[in-house]
Amino acid sequence: MKIAFFDSGIGGLSVLHHAMKVLPQEEFIFFADEDNVPYGTKSPEEVLRFVDEAFRFLIAQEVGAIVVACNTATSVAVKAMREKYSLPIIGMEPALKVALDAFPNRKVLVAATAITITGKKIFKLIKKIHAENFAELKALSKLVEFAERQEFVSAAVEKYLREELAAYDFEKFSSLVLGCTHFNYFKDTFRKILPPHVKILDGNAGTVNELIRRTNLKSSLTTNRYPLTTYYSGRKVEDAAELLRLKKFLQRLDEMETII
Ligand code: DGL
Repeated sequence: MKIAFFDSGIGGLSVLHHAMKVLPQEEFIFFADEDNVPYGTKSPEEVLRFVDEAFRFLIAQEVGAIVVACNTATSVAVKAMREKYSLPIIGMEPALKVALDAFPNRKVLVAATAITITGKKIFKLIKKIHAENFAELKALSKLVEFAERQEFVSAAVEKYLREELAAYDFEKFSSLVLGCTHFNYFKDTFRKILPPHVKILDGNAGTVNELIRRTNLKSSLTTNRYPLTTYYSGRKVEDAAELLRLKKFLQRLDEMETII
């Protein structure tokens, strides 16, 4: 089946990266809306318009399912897209339930974009799983800018994260949930800053499991590291140097995947 992964930028590659491992026999389209990134600091109305346009393009590619590999776009637009199209549309959900199931009665810090942490969807989730006393929300929107300029490890990234996280008493927290797909590129710096008992969780495996469940695809362990994938970065990526750059991101995600 041809499956589309959609994000504002390169963050969604982290979800695709996981899908490539467990669904190596499928064909993928990766669409990064590089003309409009970042989404997280724009208005929900603008983001809805961008997502609507991207969906129109992806539907025209005759895909069998669309993974909205972007928490921000999921928060703003997944409901509207599901009302409009009948194919399986899988969104991102911050791994808050996973964290609370593993570490009951401990605090969880959910880091995401400004739109995600102020949107109705996250508060609905918190209410549904009775996490009101445990979930704290933090916008780290600037990480999206760092990721898009491929600044994954630097003194500036570390300074930004140290300053933003300084106010938290992590003795009270079991985990940090990455509620933005762009944040996966920074797991090494998060690990350096956070005390060892604070686990770093993301929603990638949960999303791909949901894709498998909704489409009845068969998961298998891969020997083929990079299944057939067509990349769109606003427009189709055909330039060899650009394709190599994307492969380097996937290789960085290989390294980040082992950091928990
Ligand atoms: N990667 C997106 C997410 O998961 C958002 C990044 C952006 O602000 O565009 O929320």
